Amino acid sequence: MMPAYEHHLAEVLIDEATIIRRVAELGAEISRDYADKPDLVLICILKGGVVFLTDLMRQISVPHEIDFLSMSSYGRGARASTGNVRIDMDLRAEVTGKHLLIVEDIIDSGHTLRFVMDVLQARRPASVRLCALLDKPSRRTVDITVDYTGFVIENKYVFGYGLDLDEKFRNMPFVGVAKTDGA
Ligand code: IMP
Ligand code: MG
Repeated sequence: MMPAYEHHLAEVLIDEATIIRRVAELGAEISRDYADKPDLVLICILKGGVVFLTDLMRQISVPHEIDFLSMSSYGRGARASTGNVRIDMDLRAEVTGKHLLIVEDIIDSGHTLRFVMDVLQARRPASVRLCALLDKPSRRTVDITVDYTGFVIENKYVFGYGLDLDEKFRNMPFVGVAKTDGA
């Protein structure tokens, strides 16, 4: 039987083995950078960051906590975010004095992450850095620095490995490009 995503998939952009290799590299880099920094907290942005988080955290050898933050942008079209972002579900723990590493699926316009960084900075952590599996720099309208990037990609709508296509197919083990007609 053909997998359900097949009708929506234009092409596989990043295959599973390539993602696994890159996540291991990122985990090693993060482990080195945080070797002498206690109180590391990985902050996963729901829902898209969840697959990346669970793989990445198992490649990080320094002790750390995890926490979750859910954001939404309102007044949005299905495939683009607006500047209007709010917190749907906040972190469970206090982050003051801790080293925060945001784990996100993709940085597109940058609106979501700018908001998240500002909210977190206001809580006076020891540091805030950003780790994104994917970066679409051509779409950026907000100035944001990505400290750890998995892959830089072109301006195409992608799904899989946490990213959704109308809330589905987050479970695909690879990143694929969606057909533009959505058919
Ligand atoms: P931004 O605020 O424009 O940077 O949008 C970031 C959010 O939009 C990401 O966290 C994703 O949830 C979503 N997003 C942006 N581009 C894509 C895409 O190509 N596929 C799936 N979701 C996307
Ligand atoms: Mg997201």
